[in-house]
Amino acid sequence: MQDVLIRPMADPDVPLAERISDDAFFALDAAHRPPSAPAPQRRSPEHSAAWAARTRAFLASDPGGSWVAECDGEVVGFATGYLREQVWCLATFAVQPGRQGAGIGARVLEAAVAYGADAPRGMLAASVDPRALRRYHHAGFRLHPQLTLHGAVDRSALPAVTGVRDGGPGDLGWMDDLDRSHRGGPHGPDHERLMAAGMLVVTTDRAGYAYTDGRVLALLAASDDDTARTLLWECLAGAEGHYEVAHVTSANYWAVEVALAARMDPVARGFLGLRGMSPPAPYVHHGALL
Ligand SMILES: CC(C)(COP(=O)(O)OP(=O)(O)OC[C@H]1O[C@@H](n2cnc3c(N)ncnc32)[C@H](O)[C@@H]1OP(=O)(O)O)[C@@H](O)C(=O)NCCC(=O)NCCS
Repeated sequence: MQDVLIRPMADPDVPLAERISDDAFFALDAAHRPPSAPAPQRRSPEHSAAWAARTRAFLASDPGGSWVAECDGEVVGFATGYLREQVWCLATFAVQPGRQGAGIGARVLEAAVAYGADAPRGMLAASVDPRALRRYHHAGFRLHPQLTLHGAVDRSALPAVTGVRDGGPGDLGWMDDLDRSHRGGPHGPDHERLMAAGMLVVTTDRAGYAYTDGRVLALLAASDDDTARTLLWECLAGAEGHYEVAHVTSANYWAVEVALAARMDPVARGFLGLRGMSPPAPYVHHGALL
């Protein structure tokens, strides 16, 4: 392998990391797309800006948590991660297409994983790339298969939902406690990013919350399955056309039941990688903010 320098990510690296991430995931989507699926899209400028803002927030909350790989002075790969109390999370991991499979990912992931080595728990959302799955397995993560539930919601199936309201900054304290019970750490500063991307719905008895943007369920946490069902139905009621609930492990079969009742389709996609913990439930994680 050619000489690779592994060093902490700094602010000026963010635009290039964003480009590598877009290139790598676009190539992955193109390679693994089922024949019936729509053609993969490049990121919109808004999506790229949100990605960069999120990554800069990780650099601010966790200097030393994100790393880049450099070959001949050029950034060719990176891994971004952060600690939230007892849990270390991997946000994104990518190597430039054309340079993949040559051991660069192993080196940069090792640095990111070392940052969270003292945390008793770890979480990551794995793509379907077999190169990524090998890396995560070697890093000590157990891979839990997931379903994505998607489609147009059958509005005649929607039940009347009560006991929910819009959430706000005053709810973050109990929401963080709920996250501690599920994954060992709060979302803390990550709520700002989640609120910027979607709407927060909470139950009036403070037993659960969900972030939704009308197209995608971003995150859902609840203290019991009935609360989780109520929140998901509320999110489906606000769906604008096609809706997607990704990252559903078998521990969260309540979500499968709701989605099938709403005449959405299940498809197996990706893995939840965990160490030191079982799949959280009732909980549907966010891909990068987990
Ligand atoms: C995942 C990714 C970051 C890994 O970086 P990389 O530099 O390719 O990884 P490495 O070369 O260090 O390791 C790849 C592993 O897969 C193996 N491998 C290489 N090419 C492969 C292929 N085509 N199919 C299956 N395995 C392959 C390698 O032998 C190695 O495994 P080993 O260490 O057990 O021998 C990179 O491939 C990538 O950007 N993929 C697309 C984006 C993505 O899926 N990111 C992960 C997000 S969850």
